[in-house]
Amino acid sequence: MTRRAVILGGTGQLGAATARTLLDNGWSVTIAHRGERVLEHGALADAATARLDRSDVDAVADLCRGADLVLDCLAFAPADAEVHGRLVGDVGSVVVISTASVYAGENGTYLDIATGDDDFPVFPVPLTETHPTIDADDDLGYSAQKAALERALLAIDGLPVTILRPGAIHGPHSPALREWFFIKRVLDGRQHAPLAHLGESRFSTSASVNVAELVRLAGEHPGRRVLNAVDDPAPTVLEIGQAVFAHLGHAGEFVLLEGGPVDGVGGHPWALPRPLVLSMEAARSELGYEPVGSHRATIGSAIDRMLDAVRDADWRERFPALATRYGASEWFDYIAEDRLLGR
Ligand SMILES: NC(=O)c1ccc[n+]([C@@H]2O[C@H](COP(=O)([O-])OP(=O)(O)OC[C@H]3O[C@@H](n4cnc5c(N)ncnc54)[C@H](OP(=O)(O)O)[C@@H]3O)[C@@H](O)[C@H]2O)c1
Repeated sequence: MTRRAVILGGTGQLGAATARTLLDNGWSVTIAHRGERVLEHGALADAATARLDRSDVDAVADLCRGADLVLDCLAFAPADAEVHGRLVGDVGSVVVISTASVYAGENGTYLDIATGDDDFPVFPVPLTETHPTIDADDDLGYSAQKAALERALLAIDGLPVTILRPGAIHGPHSPALREWFFIKRVLDGRQHAPLAHLGESRFSTSASVNVAELVRLAGEHPGRRVLNAVDDPAPTVLEIGQAVFAHLGHAGEFVLLEGGPVDGVGGHPWALPRPLVLSMEAARSELGYEPVGSHRATIGSAIDRMLDAVRDADWRERFPALATRYGASEWFDYIAEDRLLGR
């Protein structure tokens, strides 16, 4: 019998990639979303759609009941676990997307509260799932709430839940592709890209197709577990830049600067003073996971999709989350860059 999956947030970058993977593996898929984002994925024509808001717990429970797999891309706080509590015994496997930023640094700090190099969290390399997570339920910030959500999910007796911790996600349909830092430089004909920390920063990336493969495996092997969900090996920012330039046939030069950014120059979306690199050993041993591809092998389709999307549009309007939430409007101060580099 065909297995049925429901994807909450199914038109997003993870939802669309997972829908494709599941459809290719014989699942039937229902994509749930509010309908604010256009469902333009022709390749997903085989999927059913359901319009609902994730905050409507009754509607979500009704849709998910009886499914073999529920992927929840839209849980951010402990209260969001309520609907999963209602589904115990009625669903085969639940997968909830958390984040790599739940890990607590060995120096008592964590990503969301770090203000600079001195208080930036120190993590073991690589980070395994048993490393402590943020324990600050009174912090209403993103990562602390995700950590509290994880605890709430694992406290639900009998829930077959797989919690996945992706890093910096990339894929077609991304609302905020960090690689825009390099793509726009190519479009602007920039011949050099300054990178702080000698271009050696590593912030684990996550191809949407790799996360989708983990979701498929968790759907086929229900369990109660927490797994990292990142590209393995983790590329350095220099390697990310090289992958983008290579895909676009651009022969730009990377200027590798010692230390952190100076007046913003050399800063980039992965500029961490210390690495955040996650291990994928648990996923391999627990689920027999093998990555679909490395960052370099998978980034091309995300770049092409982004170029299509900005062809006739202002990128700030087309990708407001990139411009505001990720601060991309600050990434392209070419005057400061040329001044500092003496060009
Ligand atoms: N971006 C990253 O680098 C990153 C890193 C680690 C973890 N994460 C986690 O990844 C998850 C986001 O996944 P994604 O990047 O695939 O998301 P996304 O691309 O932003 O897509 C979000 C999807 O959810 C739908 N949606 C949004 N709000 C909704 C609501 N209230 N009710 C129903 N549908 C709703 C959207 O469509 P409509 O607007 O049409 O409803 C869209 O289908 C989050 O849990 C986030 O914490 C992200």
